Amino acid sequence: MPTHQTARRPLYTETTTSQALYLPIAPPTLGTAGAIIGRELYSGKAFIYCPFSAFGDGLPGGNMLIMGDTGRGKSALTKTYVGRQIRLGRQVVVLDTKEQTEREEGEWAALGRAITGKAPVRFIPGGGQTPTRINPMDPAISGKRQIELVRTVVELGLGKQLDEFAGSALRLAIRQANRRAADADRVPVLTDVATALRSPQETDAAAKKRSREELLNDGLEASYVLDRLCGTDADASGDLVGMLDGPTSLGIDLDADMVVFDLTRVPSGGVAMTILVAVIAVFLEEVWLRPVCECGAPPAKHERLTVDTRSGAWQLGASEESGCPRYAQRKRIMVCEEAWHILGTPQLAALLEKFLKFARGYGLSCVFIVHHLSDLDDSAETAAALKMADTIVIYSMKVAEAAATVKRLGLPAWTAEHISRLRRGIALWKVGDIIYPGVQHLLTEAEQHLCFSSGSMTDSTASAPSL
Ligand SMILES: Nc1ncnc2c1ncn2[C@@H]1O[C@H](COP(=O)(O)OP(=O)(O)O)[C@@H](O)[C@H]1O
Ligand SMILES: [Mg+2]
Repeated sequence: MPTHQTARRPLYTETTTSQALYLPIAPPTLGTAGAIIGRELYSGKAFIYCPFSAFGDGLPGGNMLIMGDTGRGKSALTKTYVGRQIRLGRQVVVLDTKEQTEREEGEWAALGRAITGKAPVRFIPGGGQTPTRINPMDPAISGKRQIELVRTVVELGLGKQLDEFAGSALRLAIRQANRRAADADRVPVLTDVATALRSPQETDAAAKKRSREELLNDGLEASYVLDRLCGTDADASGDLVGMLDGPTSLGIDLDADMVVFDLTRVPSGGVAMTILVAVIAVFLEEVWLRPVCECGAPPAKHERLTVDTRSGAWQLGASEESGCPRYAQRKRIMVCEEAWHILGTPQLAALLEKFLKFARGYGLSCVFIVHHLSDLDDSAETAAALKMADTIVIYSMKVAEAAATVKRLGLPAWTAEHISRLRRGIALWKVGDIIYPGVQHLLTEAEQHLCFSSGSMTDSTASAPSL
């Protein structure tokens, strides 16, 4: 037996030292909580993103803007991202507004079906066989919001703002329509407002120190707009016929993990699209965004714990009913495909800005997908809505577009050329103030068929995804 043994002294390294030597083992920069996106090309580190967990780490808000040329991977990223977030318990709503001519339904339908087993909520001008309707006069929308909403519908249809007289006549008519419908024990609809505008009541006129004729004159133009949009018994060609002109369809289940609003049949850029999006946004705000805990129980079912008796500060604790230990707001994600319809329309951008401000408290993150910033106009509303995006993901675009984008977003000058050279599936990410120049989005085999989108530009042999 040897009396002495040689011993090799272990090599001591700090974790950070070894990370610097071999980056792929380093933890992801943005933390490990959230959805896996793929990897950072320059370091090889994993890239994990969650707008809700990164909140405390310098990310002021949870909204994302994704842009780049067609076919670069914007939709594929968003689809897998929300799919992966749903696994973490999030709820997702998608506004699929990309007009499709070669397909029966929007490109998000397959993902929605794969996750919830449900077909998308499809809006079809004229109604089609099984029309889906959202009712701007739905009692689920509270009084003040309802007045604002119907006014927005009329103003969008009219193409200008209502003056004080017309606005007042409209408010009175909405109230009257609500009263009449309640008397008849049914839900009020937009055509009731048109009818009420044409038959103002003596008492309403007197209260406003106007004659009945004057009040009728004030609201007549608004009633014509509603007739044109919703059609009349004699004329069913209105822009909104079959979509907004009746009670809300019972088939819309806003409790599902994922709801896809398929607007791909609605002509893009038209008044119907604009109005539909406005109504859906308010409907979501009033019905979908109600506060609820991740356990499914509303705040009222959680006990209220006083944290400090002197100030009366309190927080929500356990729920006896669901056995949940602490109230945690359920997080939600709203995706707008081809969001330039929305961001590029000042009225919608303004509405959206309000929606986003309101939604922040309810843990909502919005994802907007656009091609280029040149799709959007320069209005103050659009600029404000753009400012709400705290995470920006840029896929490859042409040099001129890239230069314009970089300038408008205030990114460093070198990023312009870099952006124009990015390959498919690789993007520059700006999270808060930090730039990650090359993030590769990784698609698993199981996700590929849900993201496959380039059917109309490739021939049949090349377009079939390899199995
Ligand atoms: N990270 C990726 N890896 C592999 N294929 C991808 C990736 N991203 C997108 N693709 C493929 O590229 C095609 C176009 O992507 P898509 O997301 O629809 O582009 P965009 O929305 O930017 O127009 C799709 O068929 C998709 O399967
Ligand atoms: Mg796309």
